[in-house]
Amino acid sequence: AAGDAAAGEKIAKAKCVACHTFETGGANKVGPNLFGVTTRGAAKAAGYSYSKGFVDAAAKFTWDEANLMQYLEDPTAFLRAKSGEAEVRSKMTFKLPSADDRANVIAYLGTLK
Ligand code: HEM
Repeated sequence: AAGDAAAGEKIAKAKCVACHTFETGGANKVGPNLFGVTTRGAAKAAGYSYSKGFVDAAAKFTWDEANLMQYLEDPTAFLRAKSGEAEVRSKMTFKLPSADDRANVIAYLGTLK
């Protein structure tokens, strides 16, 4: 089911804001600025130093809803599946276990463009 962007904004501002900014031109923190993440392509935040495993895998996927659902559930499992490299670890260690929360956050990310 399609997520609720307003609910997703609340989740993002509670759970993601420690490491991410969401506004246009926002700073990179521990993680990259996420404005436009669904349209700019994976690993494309200007000035952010992504992990090598993420950059290597990013050549093989785009941030559609299905990929974001998998990434936010378990970023390391997602990177391993996309890259085929069993040892790669995500620099993003945070996981969002609730599928409803993930769908709502993804709907919010889709408004950031
Ligand atoms: C990367 C989303 C929480 C740290 C990313 C990316 C997305 C994302 C979509 C990929 C960005 C791109 O391709 O440019 C989220 C959401 C969160 C969340 C929606 C909350 C639900 C966090 C938290 C941390 C974190 C709490 C820190 C504890 C990172 C890091 C990366 C990243 C370090 C870069 C990954 C790498 O280079 O391998 N995040 N994130 N994130 N995130 Fe998060």
